[in-house]
Amino acid sequence: MKRNILRGCLCLLPALFFLSGCGNEAREEEKKSIRLGVSVYRWDDAFLTTLRAELEEKAKEYERESGTKVVLDIVDAKESQSVQNSQVERFISLGCDALCINMVDRSAASDIIVRAMDADVPVVFFNREPVEEDMDRWDRLYYVGADAKESAVIQGTILADAYDADHSSLDLDGDGVVNYVLLEGESNHQDSLIRTEWSIQTLKDRNVPIEKLTGGIANWDRSQASALMEQWLEKYPDEIELVISNNDEMALGAIDAIERLETDRPIKLVGIDATPAAVEAVREGKLMGTVNQDLESYANTIFEIARCEAEGEPVGNYVQLEEGKYYRSAQAPVTRDSFSD
Ligand code: BGC
Repeated sequence: MKRNILRGCLCLLPALFFLSGCGNEAREEEKKSIRLGVSVYRWDDAFLTTLRAELEEKAKEYERESGTKVVLDIVDAKESQSVQNSQVERFISLGCDALCINMVDRSAASDIIVRAMDADVPVVFFNREPVEEDMDRWDRLYYVGADAKESAVIQGTILADAYDADHSSLDLDGDGVVNYVLLEGESNHQDSLIRTEWSIQTLKDRNVPIEKLTGGIANWDRSQASALMEQWLEKYPDEIELVISNNDEMALGAIDAIERLETDRPIKLVGIDATPAAVEAVREGKLMGTVNQDLESYANTIFEIARCEAEGEPVGNYVQLEEGKYYRSAQAPVTRDSFSD
């Protein structure tokens, strides 16, 4: 009897071995899927729409190359911080391996950070930079963005180079002064203040004789900028020579107003972002220049950090970060000279 039991057990061993092997494989299979929760502050922001497309592209490419399934859950925070906080809560309850967050209110990141830390889920913030104090709370917090001062210095340099080559390119009436209007992004966005400051500073440093007629906040938005520009064109019909815009969408809004009012002065405009529509406007000669933020590497880095964290790989092996947490994308000017045709 004992011998029979023993024989029975021995017979079962290969089966047990096989089953436990299957278990490992099943676990391996389970691991071959990562889930990333992404929340953007506003769905129809043109810059973020381009960035989202790059992110989706990168996730598909990684899926194809690695065989790991990537579940990319991208949601719209509808410009509400409390909506975004609930989205984060939902992502965590769904078992997301990492979060990629474009803050609605960049000064309100602590709530999200606390939830993420409690659940041990890392966060890659992007484009809207949390304050340093928040970023220092945990070593699994990252930020991906573009250096605002660099964007502005490039923007200012595009203008100063054009002025140096031919004063009349900006000083349309030849009175020795370039009269400009300024379109600014959201007041609490780090990019608005820094871009404004350094664009103007660069022009001053390069001795371009500028004088501000007026300026206003259009919140990165094409139609708000268009409405402002319309008012300014009515107020200063013969004076505006240059429009300096914190981003491309607002510059395109100003072009809309110029076209709507059938203004025939060759007012010059510059933006930042190099969105597809803006690059097209540069090609057509409607926009003097913009600044490319290399959205491909921007998106790749967001994905790569999140993926490494999700798969337990050291981020530093794949991405070079400043202070172990910051990545700033490379930037370059885009002007008519950038096109060969
Ligand atoms: C971009 C804007 C965008 C904003 C959104 C800025 O860095 O230049 O186009 O609307 O980020 O946060």
